[in-house]
Amino acid sequence: MTHPKILLAITGGISAYKSAVLARLLIKAGCSVRVMMTDGACEFITPLSLQALTGNEVHTKLLDDEAERGMGHIELAKWADMVVIAPASANTIGKLAHGLADNLVTTVALATTAPIVIVPAMNQAMYAHAIVQDNLAKLARFGYTVLTPDSGEQACGDVGAGRLPEPDDLCERILTLLAKRQTPQTLHGKKVIITSGATIEAIDPVRFLSNHSTGKMGFAIARACVNAGADVTLVAGRAVHLPTPFGAKRLTVGTADEMLTTCQSVMTDNSDTIFIATAAVADYKVKSIATQKIKKTSDQDGLTLELIKNPDILATMSHTFPKAVMVGFAAETQDTENYARTKLTAKNLDMIAVNDVSDKSIGFGSDNNAMTVFFAERYGKDKVVLDKASKDSIAKSLVECVVGILP
Ligand code: PMT
Repeated sequence: MTHPKILLAITGGISAYKSAVLARLLIKAGCSVRVMMTDGACEFITPLSLQALTGNEVHTKLLDDEAERGMGHIELAKWADMVVIAPASANTIGKLAHGLADNLVTTVALATTAPIVIVPAMNQAMYAHAIVQDNLAKLARFGYTVLTPDSGEQACGDVGAGRLPEPDDLCERILTLLAKRQTPQTLHGKKVIITSGATIEAIDPVRFLSNHSTGKMGFAIARACVNAGADVTLVAGRAVHLPTPFGAKRLTVGTADEMLTTCQSVMTDNSDTIFIATAAVADYKVKSIATQKIKKTSDQDGLTLELIKNPDILATMSHTFPKAVMVGFAAETQDTENYARTKLTAKNLDMIAVNDVSDKSIGFGSDNNAMTVFFAERYGKDKVVLDKASKDSIAKSLVECVVGILP
């Protein structure tokens, strides 16, 4: 699907304005967007705004002579690759759950064969009401995808669940659902644990040792694994400031020791579990962390810190969980192939991906990467070279490499 066709249905709710931004974000992400609105939605935001934002006529009437000649409800229903109802009011949810078709949105929902995503948004008491919950459960049983609304302060002053997610978050969720539909579910039934970002080792209460890893590579791999159907847990350094990929669980850690214990707590020892170590882990930590800020003194030009070795997370995991599939990374600045092959054997790995981090256009912080993947001898495979591409694209190729060695 190069330009997925999204039919955005807006129903009556104060959050309808967010759908205007959502439409723009979806278009920016490469989707074709058409909009239909209920009468209730038109009370909150005008069709003209949506028409201007999407560059397409906005559909509001079920029986509209004009529309019937061009894009009637059946054509709209057939046009869509996905129908997104956001915000979905309690009223529309109730109608959909009972098969009513008394306006354009509810009629298209019955007429389409495209997947339908419902994004409920309403007052928290209405959302919590047993009838609404029952209707949503029924729609989920019928194959609709029901997204969870955000919690927080509502326009009416109440606090609770029922807010329409922010447009960028919603856009990411929709794009993930689309990507999942077009990605072969090669990791279905697999559990993937990914370490990502930099670890942080304290020196004193205000200073620490760390590195340049931003988590972009690990998060791209998490997205690729979610899209391929895996159950994904990201164990991420606390300095990673990236949104959690929709569908992945995120556990935040500071030090290498914390990263190791967190990984051990979620790991299982079987061949359906895959451990991918993209994190840049500090090899050393400070032997004794100062309890007070270390002061600069006038008589000392230097300061010596005594460092001791951190645990090697990847090596520890591969020895403790020998049945799981172990994927390592290697960040090198020279002699990349030799160092990668040595780590592959020393850490008892199934596969290792090496990137040359002396190249500033890839590796740390960049949106791109380039890698060479080496496999354990037992797979009888030669190396795979992944030429420079976006980290998302490299991540997809890495998933293919992993799938290629699964039992
Ligand atoms: O996060 P980004 O900004 O997107 O950058 C991505 C990246 C450059 C960090 C990533 O592509 C990468 O190369 N990650 C590996 C970084 C690294 O620490 O490499 P290493 O060669 O020092 O370690 C080898 C392997 O052992 C790695 O899988 C590492 O996670 C693991 N390791 C290392 C030391 C340690 N104490 N414990 C470990 O688990």
